[in-house]
Amino acid sequence: MNTKSSLQEYRVWDRSIRWFHWINVLSVLTLMAIGLVIMNSKALGITDEGKILLKTWHVYVAYVFVLNLVWRIVWGFVGSRFSRWGAILPIGENYKQQRRAFMTSLKQGKAVGFMGHNPLARWMVTMLFVMLTTMAVTGLVLAGTDIYKPPFGSYFKSWVAESPETESLVQPYSDTGVNEAAYKEMRDFRSPFKEVHEIGFFVLAALVILHLLGVIITECRERNGLVSAMFTGRKVFSHKPLDADD
Ligand code: HEM
Repeated sequence: MNTKSSLQEYRVWDRSIRWFHWINVLSVLTLMAIGLVIMNSKALGITDEGKILLKTWHVYVAYVFVLNLVWRIVWGFVGSRFSRWGAILPIGENYKQQRRAFMTSLKQGKAVGFMGHNPLARWMVTMLFVMLTTMAVTGLVLAGTDIYKPPFGSYFKSWVAESPETESLVQPYSDTGVNEAAYKEMRDFRSPFKEVHEIGFFVLAALVILHLLGVIITECRERNGLVSAMFTGRKVFSHKPLDADD
């Protein structure tokens, strides 16, 4: 039997979504790798200069990650149908209807196709966005407090400097021009951001693994070309997907 003839292609992910996805994958993996080395820098015997270099590279890659994320957040308001927050966040009447149909299909052991994310995947993607945003916000604060990089670096420099004249002398891992009490105050302010950034790394790593498992399971159940759709933008279905236009 020629099964190919009964398959129909549907355009799902626009170009912007696909670029966002792969830039995000590459930048997050790179940030995780450099972050892991920073986390274990003591055990690895890395010098202060080495740490500054690692953190600087971490921050440069992070700028790409943050800009890409900001673009995606904006695209969620102005982009194509399945890139919009209304099609992603697990809220609203259409989500509830899809969830009911999805639960029924699970109980009956029948796979039901979705052009966009299925209801479970909406939760997954929402949690991923929450964690990516958390990492971006805490990371930008750390970039400012730790190595005085933009956008907040000059603000933190002026916080810890002995006087406005010594601000330009303030450098990472050096106490030249620094007021000790102000520096301690700034480090206390920074501490919860560092903790959330560190815990966020583990939570994000767990979510990435769950995301991959979800994609593999859905691909095996529904066989819609989920993975190749992130390259081509198109999924294939043998039956009309539940969220297709009439
Ligand atoms: C998904 C995104 C990110 C991941 C997975 C990640 C991961 C990590 C990890 C594992 C560490 C080591 C934490 C520790 O030593 O306890 C770290 C440190 C750091 N991250 Fe990120 N990061 C991300 C995004 C960012 C962003 C957006 C920025 C800033 C623009 C940033 C700036 C920093 C800085 C400055 C440090 C050094 C903090 C310190 O050791 O004091 N990170 N990151």
